[in-house]
Amino acid sequence: MECRKLTDGFLMNNGEKIPCIGYGTYKTTEEEVYGAVLSALKAGYRHIDTAAFYGNEAGIGRALKDCGIPREELFVTSKVWNTDRGYENTKEAFAATLERLDLDYLDLYLIHWPANRKQFGEEAKKINAETWRALEELYTEGKIKAIGLSNFLPHHIEELMETAVVKPMVDQIEFHPGWAQLEAGEYCRKNDIVVEAWSPLGRKEVLDSGILQEIGAKYGKSAAQVCVRWVLQHDILPLPKTVNSGRMVENADVFDFALTEEEMKTIDSLKDLGGQCALPDEVDF
Ligand code: A2P
Repeated sequence: MECRKLTDGFLMNNGEKIPCIGYGTYKTTEEEVYGAVLSALKAGYRHIDTAAFYGNEAGIGRALKDCGIPREELFVTSKVWNTDRGYENTKEAFAATLERLDLDYLDLYLIHWPANRKQFGEEAKKINAETWRALEELYTEGKIKAIGLSNFLPHHIEELMETAVVKPMVDQIEFHPGWAQLEAGEYCRKNDIVVEAWSPLGRKEVLDSGILQEIGAKYGKSAAQVCVRWVLQHDILPLPKTVNSGRMVENADVFDFALTEEEMKTIDSLKDLGGQCALPDEVDF
């Protein structure tokens, strides 16, 4: 889809829109997140991405309360953490998240990581199905406007769909130059699932790439802006994180240039630039 400003939206399969660049808050502490979110909102972001695991939901809630922007103009995402999987636990975790954020509803709630076979053997499938069942129920009750996944690869989604009643609207995966999960992106596109990119700047390590800097220089843009633009041109929704208000503006200033097809391919083929490069079937947390 064509995005021309921060608040233009990707259309989800439930008919709702999600603002095309989100503000990431991983590793932003409870102390700094209040001011950071207020600055991000001032810079024009309306989509805030957090998770129970980040430990900063209460500070975000306070910022959302104090910002003066009507609730319906804000888009707030959180995620159920791995220790809270399963039907009952997920419901409790969701209630706690909502309370910390001091909100009546969430715009999007995700399963943070799939339970994998390495940790749970054959139980993994059932655990994911039960976690999803809780999200489906909360969605049907109207407590969440959209539900989705994070770090699910196509085979995890296929397995989940064997028992799912509601199709996920979003899958949030690691996606940055050097870790372009194009197959997962293509699978989601075909299945009408919006893909979000966590760590679109590869935890800033990829910004040292001379190729990204060179491409950016051609347009008067930084390597970070090239990363965000590259993600968007893949029809993927970037969630850049920064606590610096100048860099918040910089990361959103990506609508006045376009990468050529050749530049897109060059960036697609980059390898080993850093970032977490997480393998969801191998993680043991
Ligand atoms: P800071 O918060 O001090 O700006 P990612 O979103 O890929 O996880 O990357 C986040 C990291 O990149 C953080 O360390 C953040 O640091 C840094 N960062 C974010 N935006 C920029 C930018 N425009 N230029 C340089 N570093 C950035």
